[in-house]
Amino acid sequence: MNLSELAAHVAAEFQNKYNRPPRWIVAAPGRVNVIGEHTDYNDGFVLPMAIERYAVMAADVPASQFASSFSHISIYDIHFDESATIDITAPVTKGLPKWSNYIRGVLAGFQNRGQKIPALEVALISTVPLGGGLSSSAALEVCTATLIEAATGKKIDPIEKALLAQTAEHEFAGVPCGIMDQFISALGREGNLLLLDCRSRKTELVPMNDLSVELLIVNTNVKHELGSGEYAKRRAECEGAAKILGVNSLRDATADQLEKAKEKMSEVVFRRARHVIGEIERTVRAAKEIRASNWTNAGELMYASHASLRDDYEVSCPELDAVVEIAEEIGVTGGVYGCRMTGGGFGGCAVALVKAGDVDAITKKIAADYKTKTGIEATIFSSRPAAGATIIKS
Ligand code: GLA
Repeated sequence: MNLSELAAHVAAEFQNKYNRPPRWIVAAPGRVNVIGEHTDYNDGFVLPMAIERYAVMAADVPASQFASSFSHISIYDIHFDESATIDITAPVTKGLPKWSNYIRGVLAGFQNRGQKIPALEVALISTVPLGGGLSSSAALEVCTATLIEAATGKKIDPIEKALLAQTAEHEFAGVPCGIMDQFISALGREGNLLLLDCRSRKTELVPMNDLSVELLIVNTNVKHELGSGEYAKRRAECEGAAKILGVNSLRDATADQLEKAKEKMSEVVFRRARHVIGEIERTVRAAKEIRASNWTNAGELMYASHASLRDDYEVSCPELDAVVEIAEEIGVTGGVYGCRMTGGGFGGCAVALVKAGDVDAITKKIAADYKTKTGIEATIFSSRPAAGATIIKS
């Protein structure tokens, strides 16, 4: 379903549930990161793109004249066939169902800015795979923030909006994430990757509208539980390395500096820092190669990124490695330029840069070989770079 079909679908579901058409429809996309992994919380560069998978909300103020209906936001999740009711007359707190915490966190963020939250009835759907490393939570957070903008008529700066959504993730979902996911969901531009400097928060568009190539997203359909704890551990290891190197963040360290300080840190911390320093450099280079349509070079940087995430940063898993091995076996002659795990790791998705004409053959081959190697069915789809959060109806 494209975005307008999806919006029409959510509007119809809203109509069914609440017996009238919605007044507002808003959407925010998930993302895939082409390169620059575990660099955002080290003040480095990332190169994500928004994908054609969205969280979409249709909403209106409550129809009922009863005062009690004006003290809540009610959200009906179409997929789960489950509702959340959030009291907006007091500071919004964590609650159930669990998915409502992404929404609650954003509402709390608006309250902290002094914004009164309007009572709303909402229908929600998300086509971003859950737990697939494609930022379904950031899509939901940014979508919520966009709904509040639409309903109050007060737009906030998109960078502030991304930061508000990131705070929601930290405080209401307990994930100490960087800024990449919320940023691209809020600021993505159709046809472009976004080179984001996570220190200055400056962005540069990197056009990706060459129809001869595509980005293929391969969902391994596994999610290893150790993910969230390990994420925080990696962050701490990076901070430890920066401290030993006497820099504010690993963004300020060079490979030379690290090599000289090798004896001062544990072997593990050394490898973590080596990944981050190398990955920041690869990301800037990849942006240049993509701008110049040097697909083979860009693809090689993706493979190098994967090897570094697997061996030095240790956030890959056998299933992700299997996808990348299959991609390497297909090679440039079979239409694959490069492939790597994307997102936090420990499962989720890999992303492959492929020749557009070979997409069908590559999809079949990866699906078959992945099934043989792991016994698991992968879900594979391609996406063009999509636009960031939008108000579809206001
Ligand atoms: C998760 C986080 C991001 C980023 C990536 C790894 O997606 O939410 O902030 O750190 O992992 O690059």
